[in-house]
Amino acid sequence: MGEDITVAKRRAGRSAAEAVEDGTVVGLGTGSTAAHAIRRLGERVDAGLDVEGIPTSFQARELAREATIPLTSLDVATPDVAIDGADQVADGQLIKGGGAAHAREKIVDTAADRLLVVVDPRKEAEVLDEPVPVEVLPSARSPVADAVAGLGGDTDLRAARRKDGPVVTDNGNLVLDCAFGPIENPEGLAGSLASIPGVVAHGLFVDVADEIHAGTADGVEVRSV
Ligand code: 5RP
Repeated sequence: MGEDITVAKRRAGRSAAEAVEDGTVVGLGTGSTAAHAIRRLGERVDAGLDVEGIPTSFQARELAREATIPLTSLDVATPDVAIDGADQVADGQLIKGGGAAHAREKIVDTAADRLLVVVDPRKEAEVLDEPVPVEVLPSARSPVADAVAGLGGDTDLRAARRKDGPVVTDNGNLVLDCAFGPIENPEGLAGSLASIPGVVAHGLFVDVADEIHAGTADGVEVRSV
């Protein structure tokens, strides 16, 4: 990853962390850009900010603990705001799940009153066309792949790195990366994917984002959706 991209991610993450208000509950997203937000939030907690975090993954929980952000859960709190990354953004709609955390991310991000999405310039597109990660129950892998093929998608079981075999999510499931080419109707595809038996969650986040914090090497652009 180039230095400019690292700087852009840091700017985006820190920008969203600055928008968090005192006395609130914050959904803590997953990925390298959200990690910058979590670290900045930790600095603000050290300086006296009173917030509680709800992590979206093992990784986010570990980072939040390192940053000494007090944690809570959806059982007892509702996030006022969530900060999360994305793999692609087009017209305010998102593809997420590059870190295979999209099931919990979707639960926390949609529960939040507001979702701030933090991205670098490589994530912005005119039309969503990246593969859509689909978390599936292990026993449903083949029928889900057949159903996705029926929707026009090519599936690829996500392989683990430094482990033989597939990625296993924080929830004990598998991930099919499903390539559809340009997605002209994200809402329709989201509904179709969600209705396949055995699908736990897919990475299309339609009408969930409220604000995009797009970092660049020079600054940050904040846009309402
Ligand atoms: C994890 C995600 C991440 O937010 C997404 O992959 C972006 O990650 P990064 O900020 O590292 O590019 O959806 O499931």
